[in-house]
Amino acid sequence: MEAVILHGGQGTRLRPLTHTGPKQLIKVAGKPVSQWVLEQIRDAGIRDVIIILGDNTPTRVVDYYGDGSRFGVRITYVYQGKARGLADAVYKVKDVVSDRFLVYLGDNVVPYDLSKFSSFKGSASILLAKVDNPNRFGVAVIKDGRVIKLVEKPKEPISDLALVGVYGFTREIFDVIESLKPSWRGELEITDALQGLIDRGREVDYEIVQGWWKDTGTPRDILEANAFLLDRYAERKVEGVIENSTIDGRVIIEKGAVIKNSVVRGPTYIGRDTKIVNSYVGPFTSVGEQSEITDSEIEYSVILDRVKIRGVTLMDSLIGNNATVEKGGRWQKLIIGENSSVIL
Ligand code: DAU
Repeated sequence: MEAVILHGGQGTRLRPLTHTGPKQLIKVAGKPVSQWVLEQIRDAGIRDVIIILGDNTPTRVVDYYGDGSRFGVRITYVYQGKARGLADAVYKVKDVVSDRFLVYLGDNVVPYDLSKFSSFKGSASILLAKVDNPNRFGVAVIKDGRVIKLVEKPKEPISDLALVGVYGFTREIFDVIESLKPSWRGELEITDALQGLIDRGREVDYEIVQGWWKDTGTPRDILEANAFLLDRYAERKVEGVIENSTIDGRVIIEKGAVIKNSVVRGPTYIGRDTKIVNSYVGPFTSVGEQSEITDSEIEYSVILDRVKIRGVTLMDSLIGNNATVEKGGRWQKLIIGENSSVIL
């Protein structure tokens, strides 16, 4: 069984962070969202991974994941280009997958044992979760323990069971996609392809997941995913240099990092070669590599790589790679794109 990670799409709701790179490479709790996905796939025993590339700087994805050996998997890349919908992306793997395969949306975090997909019985298998805002998702109607109808982003409230971003497919899905028509938003919807299976009298297996999961489509979702993953996986590991500082609780400090005259409170992640000086870095925060935080306070935030922050208090904020944020004030929900310089 192969696993296919969808790494294309537009990422419009995460602009300006996605002006310069695919949303799936945004790091949460120290790793790109799609790396959490890839490692979850590997940990379920699947070694053959296909990554579908979009047209937003696909070379960045290839540079980061390479042939997969660094992550213990074999990666094949398939180019989708323009985002024409999930079903269009899935159709692109027709010549490289075997009888059954898994599809995982590369911007979703779904802590679920993927090895369960190896034995689904129907023509496809989906995960569902109860949501408060079903109009943002694809939804499924269940009757007498069977999936009877699937609708993408329903305008009428027909079900609050949303399709979560992991699917098991058999090759039958390709036949359905061949006869699919674009939806009102101009995309070939995988939800419509699943409905096509139902229309042909096929079974679609389902499981309702109870725990936390996230589609990291918005900055708020990124912060939540970061907090969840830190809370669930961070274990205390201090490999950097600590000078005159307090490191409280489950804090990961990578090699080459320097923490000076500061307080760092877990769960928190501090990347390689980052310097924290005269600052407070509070719980549920991740700081990437080679960043510098001076005379600042930061809580519940994601600070990406090579960022400079000086003399600022930040909460619930998301700061892109190579950005500089300086000079005073207390800011909540600040979103700064890559390579930006902001004097507050
Ligand atoms: O998060 C779960 C939801 O994901 C499901 O409930 C919906 O049924 C499903 O359509 C999808 O909805 P979104 O509107 O959130 O999909 P999005 O456009 O964000 O794309 C999901 C992932 O697939 C994302 O990692 C980008 C990638 N993608 C998307 C498109 C449209 C591609 O690789 N190629 C594409 O053409």
